[in-house]
Amino acid sequence: MAKRSKVPARRGLAAPKAAGKAPKVGAGELHSLFDFLRYAVSRFNAAKLVFAHGTTDPVVEAAFLICETLHLHPDQFENFANARVTIAEGKQILDLIERRISTRKPAAYLVNKVYMRGLPFYVDERTIVPRSFIGELLDSHFGGDEDGTSLIGDPEEVGSVLDLCTGSGCLAILAARHFPNAAVDAVDISKDALEVAARNVADHGLNDRLTLHRGDLFKPLGDASYDLIISNPPYVDAEGMAALPRECRAEPKIAFDGGADGLDIVRRLLDQAKQHLTPQGGLLCEIGRGRDNLEAAYPNLPLLWLDTEDSEGEVFWIAAADL
Ligand SMILES: C[S@@+](CC[C@H](N)C(=O)[O-])C[C@H]1O[C@@H](n2cnc3c(N)ncnc32)[C@H](O)[C@@H]1O
Repeated sequence: MAKRSKVPARRGLAAPKAAGKAPKVGAGELHSLFDFLRYAVSRFNAAKLVFAHGTTDPVVEAAFLICETLHLHPDQFENFANARVTIAEGKQILDLIERRISTRKPAAYLVNKVYMRGLPFYVDERTIVPRSFIGELLDSHFGGDEDGTSLIGDPEEVGSVLDLCTGSGCLAILAARHFPNAAVDAVDISKDALEVAARNVADHGLNDRLTLHRGDLFKPLGDASYDLIISNPPYVDAEGMAALPRECRAEPKIAFDGGADGLDIVRRLLDQAKQHLTPQGGLLCEIGRGRDNLEAAYPNLPLLWLDTEDSEGEVFWIAAADL
């Protein structure tokens, strides 16, 4: 149920017009989880909400909110779909449905939680709601598959990973779990985001292996080198910034703004990454819809574009030797 989504907002989806009206109910009128799901979806559709934060559509978003209220993992929705909701629980669910509509805030901010790769992360308005494709790519292209395919060799032999622009720390944490022997550094320029990341690092028991740094890209790291650099930097272009839907305007602007063509930070990353990679290492970087611009700017770079369940050509890999 908890299928993650790509980020229409970061691609410049237009904000919806005024919400339509749908009749409201009292807490005693709905009984099962399914009843609440059906009602929430009708209300969300009528209100023309935008779903851009880790859920793909109103059904998944409603199931997420219902499960959070009932202290269930989103994957458990179907097991309990016909179970009866108490009056008190029903009131809480209806309240969340109304807050999602009236505030337009991402569901993750309403419940301070998001799931990535099935794992829970704390999130609040100090940082962007995570929805990167990189977590999926770590599993599919870096030795997570049973057939052992990997762009970087045995995950157990990866000794160092850097997550640039870490936000809530989610990708650094997924990387630390994926590469069990790696020391992980994670950098963000935002003090607020790093406070959220610190909470997540502690929640996931990684304080001994994951270090957070505050600063501008590579600056806080000196001349350190890494076997793998991952980054989901700000990459929304000026047109996309002007068209952010209300749901995304609750998030920090610094997390989206990639300059006129969206590639300001990505260019700096590409220009500096080689100095911070070991010879066998490489850079995995998400760039949204900037592929054409990037290939035009770096025509000689052999970028390998990696697709995911919900994306095509939005994340590239480049080996250190090719930089
Ligand atoms: C798109 S968010 C990604 C956050 C996280 N990696 C994720 O996938 O959810 C980009 C992050 O880059 C940070 N950032 C922006 N400019 C930066 C810079 N010059 N140096 C370091 N971090 C920066 C922002 O604060 C934000 O947390």
